[in-house]
Amino acid sequence: MAKRVVLAYSGGLDTSVAVRWMIEEWSVKEVICVVVDVGQSDLADPDVLRQRALAAGASDCIIVDARREMAEEFCGAAIYANAKYEGKYPLVSALSRPVIVRHLVATARQVGADAVAHGCTGKGNDQVRFEVGTHALAPDLEVLAPARNWGMTRADSVDYAAKWNIPIAATKEKIYSIDENLWGRAIECGDIEDPWAEPPTEPYTLTAVRADGPTEAMITFEAGRPVLLDGTPMDMASLIEALNERAGSVGAGRIDMVENRRVGIKSREVYECPGAMALITAHAALEDITLERDLAREKARLDLRWAELVYDGMWFSPLKEALDAFLVETQRAVTGDVRLRFEKPGLMTVIGRRSPIALYDHGLATYDASDTFRHADSEGFVRIYGLGVKTWAARQGAKNSTPPQS
Ligand code: ARG
Repeated sequence: MAKRVVLAYSGGLDTSVAVRWMIEEWSVKEVICVVVDVGQSDLADPDVLRQRALAAGASDCIIVDARREMAEEFCGAAIYANAKYEGKYPLVSALSRPVIVRHLVATARQVGADAVAHGCTGKGNDQVRFEVGTHALAPDLEVLAPARNWGMTRADSVDYAAKWNIPIAATKEKIYSIDENLWGRAIECGDIEDPWAEPPTEPYTLTAVRADGPTEAMITFEAGRPVLLDGTPMDMASLIEALNERAGSVGAGRIDMVENRRVGIKSREVYECPGAMALITAHAALEDITLERDLAREKARLDLRWAELVYDGMWFSPLKEALDAFLVETQRAVTGDVRLRFEKPGLMTVIGRRSPIALYDHGLATYDASDTFRHADSEGFVRIYGLGVKTWAARQGAKNSTPPQS
């Protein structure tokens, strides 16, 4: 078993217990905790995190600020791909895992660790993302998953923490499992596990309704990247936060879905992702006027594939990287402005889009006097376009033209 282990540490009950458990049960000699800040608002104070990790038995606790990296690189790529798993979920947790993996592996190299560890159970996607991601960046590193092995209930873990004097205010009852970062919040468990039950409103924070609205936002994109909000330059993290606030304040950006996990389980989850949904919605609206038809249609297929790969833990993989290159190429034309309106109850609507390089041509589209389209050209086009069907129909005789008897 590994001697020196770098653990992805959240400061919560499971990863705190994991430190001590690996030392006791697997004779791990040294555990180095790494906390990766990807914009989770529930992250404890750095001193509290460090103190808790050390009390659990860690030799060190390193806190990494990866908010910018998460925003610019990971959320930025997700915007290019209008990324929504199974057409709905904007990959909140799936996007943060490769960020965490990258810092785990970097720390493992710095301290000469022979393994990394995570606190995921055996039923979810996150174990897949941590392990496949680590193997992609560091095929020689072992990955340990104590929570998949220890067979403790939550109550057992609370007792274990108490026994080892790990200072953590965790209770034996915890209704929801929540994972959060800049891109939104994922909420599981409790009543949400009944797909017939309406989702409870109490776990919502980003989309807790606190304004009457309506509010609007103008987002300016340059080559697929959002750069201005209402004309003001903003880095990606600030932009996401501002839109989380603006869209979230009227309850926009909630998602209720039953999704297919990588491990074959159908699971009902709810998400609140106001900023992510606003940026993806606006970006897709700008693509509507800037991407050529065939490119747009092919991209829509590959966007879905990109989201599946990222959901399935394949952020670091050859197909995902090749798709990234395709996406960057498509984004050259995606420059312009989109106006969104947010209003109760949770509505988010595109109300305008424009681009200096739009393929939308008013002269071609209009029905008024400024029409530039050559109507007569359509006659020959349609005749030839429909020729195959016309020939086929002529061979059928009257068969096709008789309405069914009612
Ligand atoms: N089902 C989502 C996903 O697989 C969210 C997972 C949230 N994780 C958690 N520990 N609550 O990406």
